[in-house]
Amino acid sequence: MNVRVHGRSRHYRTVSFSARTNEVVLIEQRKLPHTFELTRTANYRQTARAITNMTVRGAGAIGATAAYGLAQGARAFTGKTEAAFARHLLRVYETLAAARPTAVDLVNALNEVRAAMAAGKTTTSISQKQKLALRAAGKFADDDVTHCEAIGKHGAKLIKNGTRVLTHCNAGWLAFVDIGSATAPMYAAQAKGKKFHVYCDETRPRSQGAALTAWELAQQGVSHEVIADNAAGHLMQRGEIDLVITGSDRTLGRTGAVANKIGTYTKAVLAARHKIPFYVAIPLSTLDWNLKSCKEIPIEERNEDEVLTAWGTDNRGKFRQIRIANPTSPARNPAFDVTPPELITGIITPKGIFKPRDLWRERKRLGFV
Ligand code: MRU
Repeated sequence: MNVRVHGRSRHYRTVSFSARTNEVVLIEQRKLPHTFELTRTANYRQTARAITNMTVRGAGAIGATAAYGLAQGARAFTGKTEAAFARHLLRVYETLAAARPTAVDLVNALNEVRAAMAAGKTTTSISQKQKLALRAAGKFADDDVTHCEAIGKHGAKLIKNGTRVLTHCNAGWLAFVDIGSATAPMYAAQAKGKKFHVYCDETRPRSQGAALTAWELAQQGVSHEVIADNAAGHLMQRGEIDLVITGSDRTLGRTGAVANKIGTYTKAVLAARHKIPFYVAIPLSTLDWNLKSCKEIPIEERNEDEVLTAWGTDNRGKFRQIRIANPTSPARNPAFDVTPPELITGIITPKGIFKPRDLWRERKRLGFV
């Protein structure tokens, strides 16, 4: 999407790759909305760290970062033998796969790159495999963009003139390579000239809604307001929210259950209570066809400091982290929750909108058979 920096508007992808320097180039998300800057990772370990420490976050964006990280690691190999290359690749794969547990895009992206390398004939040289890895990583990133475009095309019809949309966390272009999933229908509706309003859940503890979604929507000129996480029920009760669209970190193809940022489930329960349509927007890399039950989804538990503190800039523009909780109290910090299929009106995919329970039956149409 376009970002206005120092008075000039320029197009940026959230994640890209410099083949010349073998670096992954990322928008530094921990400093937004206060400072816009790009950061580079010089090797696959730094790339994995950037995912873990949330320099880059959001399911699609960490998928693309991991894909480039695997290509980066493959390209850095200078040994001679196939066996040493295979051992090195396994180390790179495992380091990146362990960077964050819940978003399945990360492992799906790694598997795509690994499969592209393995698809080369047994006679394929190491240098050819290194090229195949980079090509596959670039394809994953490009597919992410075309998937989000298609989500926008299918989802735009849900937004009419005057619709008041609630979204949770950041499932925008910062969470993908470009455009975003939950924001794609908004940007497509805006391009059609529709006038609507977006409520961004603040999304404690890391405040991705207040910091990132609000920043994105402001950059794109979309009418919006940040609300405290506890305010959505009140607005729904008063008839001030017409539609909810969120993203997903892992959507179970077998059941239609959706793991997404903590608090998504609460919003789905509230939406059902108030008969407000609740949609989840996903690229195909978010689908997990293996797990049979949502109990098997690994839910990331993050550091308690995120709950016990808050951070941002003071009125002199200095970045500060301050303690907001009682100094002797510990905290629990599950980062994701699971919304069951019966609370979801529809899943907006690049191939159309599906009932969550129809995903398995429709897997051929989704391109998975
Ligand atoms: O912890 P985060 O910021 O990576 O969590 C992001 C979300 O939960 C998004 O809603 C999700 O990734 C879906 S959109 C890519």
